[in-house]
Amino acid sequence: MKKIFERLSCLAFIFWGVIFLILSFSSAFSQNCVDCHKTRTPHIVSDWLLSQHGRNDVNCQVCHGEEHKGSDDVAKARIPTPETCALCHEEKVNQFKKGKHALGWAAMKAMPTAHWQPMALMEGMKGCGGCHKIGLKTEAEIKELKTTGPGFGIASCDACHTRHLFSVAEARQPQACQTCHMGFDHPQWEMYSASKHGVRFLLKQNKVLPENAAAPTCQTCHMSEGNHEVRTAWGFLAVRLPLPEDKSWADDRVTILKGLGVLDPEGKPTARLEVVKAADLARLTQEAWQKERDKMIAICNRCHSANFARGELEKGDKIIREADKLMAEAIRIVAGLYKDGLLPKPKNYAYPFPDLLTFHDAPTVIEQKLFVMFLEHRMRTFQGAFHHNPDYSLWYGWSEMVRSLAEIKALAEEYRAKSRK
Ligand code: HEC
Ligand code: HEC
Ligand code: HEC
Ligand code: HEC
Ligand code: HEC
Ligand code: HEC
Ligand code: HEC
Ligand code: HEC
Repeated sequence: MKKIFERLSCLAFIFWGVIFLILSFSSAFSQNCVDCHKTRTPHIVSDWLLSQHGRNDVNCQVCHGEEHKGSDDVAKARIPTPETCALCHEEKVNQFKKGKHALGWAAMKAMPTAHWQPMALMEGMKGCGGCHKIGLKTEAEIKELKTTGPGFGIASCDACHTRHLFSVAEARQPQACQTCHMGFDHPQWEMYSASKHGVRFLLKQNKVLPENAAAPTCQTCHMSEGNHEVRTAWGFLAVRLPLPEDKSWADDRVTILKGLGVLDPEGKPTARLEVVKAADLARLTQEAWQKERDKMIAICNRCHSANFARGELEKGDKIIREADKLMAEAIRIVAGLYKDGLLPKPKNYAYPFPDLLTFHDAPTVIEQKLFVMFLEHRMRTFQGAFHHNPDYSLWYGWSEMVRSLAEIKALAEEYRAKSRK
């Protein structure tokens, strides 16, 4: 009897033991993000294992939360925002927030044309949104993205050190900027990579030049000492306040400001000026501009004389002046056609004046030409100068501006000739 009892309790012990093992194993399994994701998304796990995060116990849960536990509750996985990174990298997040990248989403949405683009290109991030997602989003915008799509693209911080390696070595290469800073209206990659600066650096990457040979990357000039606050003196549009002392340049600049819709055709500030201020699209004081300029000269000065550097940057300024001259003339020609009733006033615009910000959708060839002259050719002219690429400044920039202006003149003459008939 005693033996049987002993045997039973022994069996029970084994039985409960096995149950316990199964339960604890399966619960460990079902809670272990890495084990399950090793089969579900194996290369997310292998990248994470290679990363500093993987090596420092910064687990999946830290960024994605713990509410999603298995295949049937995937929607509960949290998608991180810069606030998540700020838990451990507060300084970088604070720097980032002060710079222009943080404004990328807001600036895109502030454009009048943004609302007429197909959804997939904006929120869907296949067009404008694909690059501008680097900007911060508000709580409301994140919610909206969740309802219009799966809600990805809100992290911002994975733009240069991409998930899940989050590699600082990757972020230090100029290629980290390439995807966004290329192409139509901001081909900094093409300009830089073919300039002497870029060629030298690429030869360093190829190990033709020694590792410590001097060659600046985009980051050397724009993220000096790892500072995540990026901003330049002139910015993208190369307009700023105050107006230049040179009278004819100031007149040309006023025409361009009218074309941007921040001044009305009479020269009075419009509501759009507030939008421009809010999105930090232009430096509004001499001091704000000078501060960035001085910072840049100090960076050049590590490899060049300050004299040389100042001279080079001033050439860039002069090229903006020359480009503005051609641009303003073209704007005045098209404005004249509206004024004389030869061209219908731009739709979706209050004034009978060219609106360079809505011309994506301009109905006529002459208006399209003006838009491309501004956004493609003028950009290339001065951006090429600042990035030491004579081919962009001259052939893709200046020469194309001259050609566009000639075409705009010819088309305007056709409108006028028709009206005389
Ligand atoms: C038992 C398996 C399993 C476990 C455990 C698991 N996941 Fe998942 N997870 C999945 C599956 C399946 C998907 C969907 C994958 C797909 O769409 O291909 C997923 C998707 C995700 C996504 C993407 C969400 C989306 O909307 O596409 C994240 C982020 C994620 N898991 C994180 C985690 C984290 C963090 C843990 C641990 C707390 C975890 N997972 C645990 C199976 C699991
Ligand atoms: C729980 C803390 C924690 C969170 C949250 C966190 N990190 Fe980290 N991160 C670390 C630690 C620890 C290291 C390694 C030590 C170091 O470099 O400080 C690291 C290193 C890094 C590095 C340098 C990697 C390298 O190659 O040297 C980058 C880049 C980085 N993290 C980006 C991010 C981003 C982006 C986020 C948000 C999506 C984030 N981290 C969230 C703790 C964290
Ligand atoms: C290939 C990536 C890419 C796409 C696509 C893109 N942008 Fe941009 N956008 C940029 C970059 C990079 C800059 C900054 C360029 C510079 O400063 O030279 C920029 C600048 C801007 C600016 C000016 C911001 C400022 O502070 O001066 C606005 C506004 C803007 N984009 C709106 C849009 C809209 C609207 C679309 C879609 C119709 C769009 N972008 C498509 C990458 C992109
Ligand atoms: C340091 C923060 C961080 C850690 C740690 C982390 N992730 Fe992520 N994860 C991100 C970011 C950032 C994104 C992109 C978010 C977005 O789209 O804005 C992301 C996206 C994802 C996605 C969906 C997008 C895709 O490419 O499929 C999955 C799945 C995912 N993570 C799984 C995991 C798993 C599994 C682990 C652990 C092995 C993990 N993550 C660890 C930050 C992290
Ligand atoms: C425009 C590209 C870019 C973006 C966007 C970006 N980073 Fe970085 N990050 C870099 C570069 C470049 C470095 C290397 C800096 C250096 O050489 O010290 C870096 C380095 C880091 C490091 C390592 C710092 C160290 O001293 O080891 C951390 C942490 C980091 N970034 C966090 C973030 C966070 C958090 C965000 C989002 C707010 C972010 N980064 C967004 C380019 C970027
Ligand atoms: C995911 C796309 C993306 C990546 C990657 C990216 N940028 Fe940008 N960058 C933008 C956008 C969009 C803007 C315009 C934001 C605005 O002004 O609202 C911008 C603006 C800038 C500006 C400010 C120009 C001004 O108006 O003063 C600089 C400088 C800059 N980026 C440098 C870099 C560098 C250097 C890297 C790589 C280390 C980089 N960016 C990587 C999208 C990107
Ligand atoms: C040798 C330094 C240097 C390097 C390298 C460099 N830039 Fe620049 N960048 C400048 C200067 C100088 C300006 C004009 C500053 C001003 O407004 O006075 C500028 C301007 C910009 C602007 C504002 C619009 C424009 O083009 O004028 C962006 C955006 C930008 N750079 C991105 C990049 C990217 C991305 C790379 C790498 C592919 C890069 N830069 C490489 C010095 C540099
Ligand atoms: C990290 C070092 C480094 C930095 C920073 C740097 N450069 Fe250079 N730069 C070089 C080297 C090396 C060359 C190639 C020298 C040659 O062409 O003989 C060069 C070439 C040039 C050239 C063309 C060659 C020439 O002598 O006419 C110009 C123009 C130039 N740099 C301007 C600038 C300006 C402006 C800045 C700051 C915005 C700057 N560089 C920042 C290293 C640098």
